Amino acid sequence: MITRAAITAVGGYVPEKILTNKELEKMVDTNDQWIRDRTGIEERRILDKDRATSDMGVEAILNLLSKTNYSAEDIDLIIVSTVSPDYVYPATANIIADKIGAVNSWGFDMNAACSGFLYALRTGSQFIESGMHKKVLVVGADKMSIRVDYEDRNTCILFGDGAGAVLLEPTEENGIIDSKFAVDGSGGNFLMQKAGGSKYPTSLETLKNKEHYIYQDGRTVFKFAVKGMADITEEVMKQNNLTADDVAYLVPHQANKRIIDATAKRAGLPDEKVMVNIQKYGNTTNATIPLCLWEWEDKLKPGDNILLAAFGGGFAWGSIYLKWAY
Ligand code: ACO
Repeated sequence: MITRAAITAVGGYVPEKILTNKELEKMVDTNDQWIRDRTGIEERRILDKDRATSDMGVEAILNLLSKTNYSAEDIDLIIVSTVSPDYVYPATANIIADKIGAVNSWGFDMNAACSGFLYALRTGSQFIESGMHKKVLVVGADKMSIRVDYEDRNTCILFGDGAGAVLLEPTEENGIIDSKFAVDGSGGNFLMQKAGGSKYPTSLETLKNKEHYIYQDGRTVFKFAVKGMADITEEVMKQNNLTADDVAYLVPHQANKRIIDATAKRAGLPDEKVMVNIQKYGNTTNATIPLCLWEWEDKLKPGDNILLAAFGGGFAWGSIYLKWAY
C-alpha cells in the first residue's frame, strides 16, 4: 500500500474591510467597468494596519481546527507560503506556531510568489508520504495591501488580503496523486519587488522610487500565465488519463478571470466545474487556492478528482492532481 497525503480539513479567513472598485475610482484613474471586464474583480479585502500576515494565518488555522477533533498540540509541522511575511526573519510559521500553541510543531516559510501554496502543499505532502509526520498544516497567507502602491492603477486594482489553511494527513486511498512544476527564471524581471532584498536593500532612493511595491509588466505576465497554466494543467490531465468528464473541479490561482477562463477552456471544463471567487477577493497571492477550497468544501465529495493550478512571479507555475478525501 502506498501512503499518500490527503487534505482532511480546510480553514479560511478574509478581513472584514472591503475595498470596492468604486472606491478605487476615487484613488486612481480607473473605473469599475474596466476592472470587471479586464480582471473579473469587483472587490477585495484589506487587513487593518496593525494586523499582520501571521494574524490571518492564525484565524485560518483556528477555523480549520474548529472543524476537527484536533488541537494545535497535535500538529507536527507548519509550512507557510507567503510573499508578505511578518518579518524577513523569524519565519511567519514560527510566529503562528507560538500564537496557536503548536508546541510540538516545527515550521518554516516558503516563497514561490503566486504559486507558493502549490509548492508548499507538495512539500508538505512529502513529509506525510515519507512517514515522517502525521499532521502537517499548509498555510497560504498574504497581506498584499502592504505590497501595493495605491497610486498605481496597473497593480492596485488586482490584489487583496487573506489566508487559507489545509491539514494534511496520511491516507491509503484518495489524497494527492500527482503534480508537475516548472520555473523560468528569465521571467523574473516581469513581476517583482525590485528593492528590499540583498541586491537592492531598502534606501531613501528605493523608497522614493517606490521600488518596495509590486512591479509588473501585466501584458507579458498575462501572456505567459495563460500558456503556462493551461499547458501544465493539460499535462497533468494527460499524465493521469483524465478527461474533462472525470474532473469534478479545477481550482485555479485567482489572478485574472480571463487567465482562469483560458485554462478552463483548454481543459474542456465548463464554468460550473471551475472554482472562482476572484470577484470577491481579488488576487490574495498565496491564499487564493485554499480560500477556494474553503468556500467549496461543502460541495466536495470523497473521491472527487480535483486539479489545482497556479502561475506567478518567477516565473513559477504548477498543477496538482488530488482525490478529495472527505
Ligand atoms: N483602469 C483603467 N485603465 C487601465 C488600468 C486600470 N486599472 N490599468 C491599465 N489600464 C490601461 C493601460 O494603461 C492601457 O492603456 P493604453 O492602451 O493607453 O496604454 C490599457 O488599459 C490596456 O492595458 P493592458 O496592460 O494591456 O491591459 P490588460 O488587458 O493586459 O490588463 C492586467 C492588465 C489586468 C494587469 C493583465 O495584464 C493581467 O492580469 N496580467 C497578469 C497578472 C498576473 O497573472 N499576475 C501573476 C500573478 S501576481 C504574483 O505572482 C504576485
